[in-house]
Amino acid sequence: MRVRTLHLTAFRNHADTALQPGTGITLLVGDNGQGKTNVLEAISFLSLSKSFYAANDAQAVMLGQDVLEIGAGIAHDAGREFDVRVTVRATSGDKAIRVNGSALEKLSALVGMFPAVILSPEQGGIIAGAPAERRKFLDVVLSQTSRSYLADVMEYRRVLRQRNKLLLDARLAGTPPARELPAWTDELVGLGSRLIHMRERFVDGVHTEFAETYRALAGTRGDAAVRYITADGIVHGMETAEIAGCLREAIARREAEELRRGATLAGPHRDDLAFEIDGRAAERYASQGEQKTLLIALKLSEYRFVSVRCGETPILLLDDVFAELDRHRAARVMHMLRSTAGQCIITATDEALIGEAPRWNNEHRRIIVDSGTCREASS
Ligand SMILES: Nc1ncnc2c1ncn2[C@@H]1O[C@H](COP(=O)(O)OP(=O)(O)OP(=O)(O)O)[C@@H](O)[C@H]1O
Ligand SMILES: [Mg+2]
Repeated sequence: MRVRTLHLTAFRNHADTALQPGTGITLLVGDNGQGKTNVLEAISFLSLSKSFYAANDAQAVMLGQDVLEIGAGIAHDAGREFDVRVTVRATSGDKAIRVNGSALEKLSALVGMFPAVILSPEQGGIIAGAPAERRKFLDVVLSQTSRSYLADVMEYRRVLRQRNKLLLDARLAGTPPARELPAWTDELVGLGSRLIHMRERFVDGVHTEFAETYRALAGTRGDAAVRYITADGIVHGMETAEIAGCLREAIARREAEELRRGATLAGPHRDDLAFEIDGRAAERYASQGEQKTLLIALKLSEYRFVSVRCGETPILLLDDVFAELDRHRAARVMHMLRSTAGQCIITATDEALIGEAPRWNNEHRRIIVDSGTCREASS
């Protein structure tokens, strides 16, 4: 998909900003606090129906205003055009999304329609942060590419809450758990094994490309790897039914501990991704620039995965991607972005950081962001 036109009204510091991204790379350049990230955030509303980082939609309404509007003309790869409009009201927090004039009844209907792959400084946590950040990454990617995953993940959370409540109630009352516990365990195992299977398949689908992309970006012999870490007994290549069997056993083994702690101790909510360079854990040993390189390699692998699964080229949004990179790596990133099929919007405070700039024209555009306004830079 491609965003052809973007119009922001009362969106954060953009009172009234119109923008036409290029079909290839668009560089948003400007000093700190001018409104570059805000433009990427607005595009994330079109794709994910929400901000890629802020939990509260109403915060995006310009201070002192009541309603924000994001209007966009979007084209699918096959040429079909869409007019997408998002409005959020500050006072009530009400959000409405219209596609070609019709309001979406469920915001989840937007998922996968206009796919985006987003890399922002907050996502540094995928490599070096807590396991919950890596699980969130997996859930966002897989929900965007599979409606059944999205449904399963929401149901899993509900079932987990119920099961944890029974365990906690039993712990607090000092009694055996309620009779319904085995039924909730069945539900949890059924849903959990499907989620684990999909996550395993994702990692399986991207790990080769991830390693190759890392090597190409790093320009050294550093070998990067990513693995999915899950309950004991589950091994690579298992089908859902076999995973379910192992998960059930893992839960059974922890029965006493679950009762002692009042929580479910095995399942996709406890799993993790491990990133390594030359066999060493990236979160402990990799430098800032190496971690950033891993993240870019992961995002570019995600980009290919999402393209294939959605049957639609995603838009690539890279916020401050060059910040920790040396000029060699920055140049290699730019080189790689130029050869991706789709549209890519990147932000930088200084054009010198981006390594090797492309020739600016209709395909590759350079836009200056200044106090909530955007204007095309004269070349
Ligand atoms: N609801 C809002 N109303 C008005 N202004 C806001 C609102 N939310 C954020 N801002 C302002 O938007 C400005 C620009 O933010 P943004 O994150 O887009 O900057 P940036 O250009 O990406 O800067 P940096 O290079 O530091 O990342 C900030 O100064 C912030 O105070
Ligand atoms: Mg920013």
